[in-house]
Amino acid sequence: MYTAAVLTVSDRCFRGQRPDEAGPMVVSLLKGAGYQVVETAVVADEREDIQAALVRLSGETRAALVVTTGGTGFSPRDVTPEATAAVCERMVPGIPEAMRAASLAVTPRAMLSRAMAGIRGGSLIVNLPGSPKAAQENLEAVLPALDHGLKMLLEGPSDCASTFP
Ligand code: MTE
Repeated sequence: MYTAAVLTVSDRCFRGQRPDEAGPMVVSLLKGAGYQVVETAVVADEREDIQAALVRLSGETRAALVVTTGGTGFSPRDVTPEATAAVCERMVPGIPEAMRAASLAVTPRAMLSRAMAGIRGGSLIVNLPGSPKAAQENLEAVLPALDHGLKMLLEGPSDCASTFP
């Protein structure tokens, strides 16, 4: 069982002007997939605040998987992908590629998510869009492959062929 943390990025949720629905939904999906959710947090759409939260959740909290929801679109305050790229040492483009490929079957607007994924230390950080529906559709598209990635990251080299698919 791997640990996970969920970060909701939303000005309105941070100010208490809207309930956080996407965060709890992501928590429940992760728990259903066997993750131990060790921390949740809500931050405003401020690049410095998002970066500080990602550094804390991957460092101090030591979550193997850090999932963000929100701030991946085109609004001037949507900066979650930039904050993610700034704190990651290695990017994992295949994860957002898979999320967008699966989501395009649902809506052409899937291409508007600028979500990224990357590795910081012993943590995999994955961005999701902000609406609960979009977050769910994107996470479900990649969840089955994430534990294999975390195994490679945290437990060293593996024989991928032996674990196919
Ligand atoms: N992906 C899926 N699967 N379903 C959706 O409804 N909405 C899109 C996109 N990805 C959507 C989706 C829309 S409308 C936007 S603007 C972007 O995600 C970014 O969302 P965000 O700004 O809430 O992060």
